[in-house]
Amino acid sequence: MKIDILTLFPNMLDGFLNESIIKRAKENNLVQINLIDFRKYSLNKQNKVDDTPYGGGSGMVLMCQPIFDAVDALKDDDTTVILLTPDGKTYNEEVAKSLSLKKHLIIICGHYEGFDERIRSIVDMEISIGDFVLTGGELAAGIITDSIVRLIPGVISEESLDSESFSNNLLDYPTYTKPEEFRGLKVPAVLLSGNHKLIKEYREKEALLKTKNKRPDLLEKKD
Ligand code: ADE
Repeated sequence: MKIDILTLFPNMLDGFLNESIIKRAKENNLVQINLIDFRKYSLNKQNKVDDTPYGGGSGMVLMCQPIFDAVDALKDDDTTVILLTPDGKTYNEEVAKSLSLKKHLIIICGHYEGFDERIRSIVDMEISIGDFVLTGGELAAGIITDSIVRLIPGVISEESLDSESFSNNLLDYPTYTKPEEFRGLKVPAVLLSGNHKLIKEYREKEALLKTKNKRPDLLEKKD
């Protein structure tokens, strides 16, 4: 998979994308991630990418030209173009799974006061990471990239993916590690029993109980 992130602030994401699991996925050629400063596509003498809004109002608005030209230059027949915006479809694990199957993503990060409405005409999806407003799309692009890359086969183990929160619309079961008792808090005895059948039953029950208590809305979607 290839992910091209169009941003005016590539340094905001550079460190994040070069650590831990994403770094390893890149080294193992499971994903290629390019941070592209779309200012370089500006045809303006001063490399301008934004201007004042028609009709008046505060702030600067990202112009069509640099973004249209960047997308034209990077796009092929297998590309999904994503625009990050607080008025997009709310992101979740289901969207992450569908995006992890794509060959090539272009993710456009907005910044400043907003973007020219006509930019929406060249995108396939508009995504929001939640009902709040960020100063720009960079952190949203990082979050989306992280959640997609970990789902690419070979990046993390299938077993971890099967049992984690939101798989089959359940939250994850509780986990514990050594020691068996810490400040009077004990690990449930069944996990020390070595009985795999009982452990499986315990985990299924706990996942269901946790989901019922914390996210009953997920159970309505469960098959
Ligand atoms: N840009 C600004 N706020 C955003 C949000 N909530 N999601 C995605 N992109 C954004």
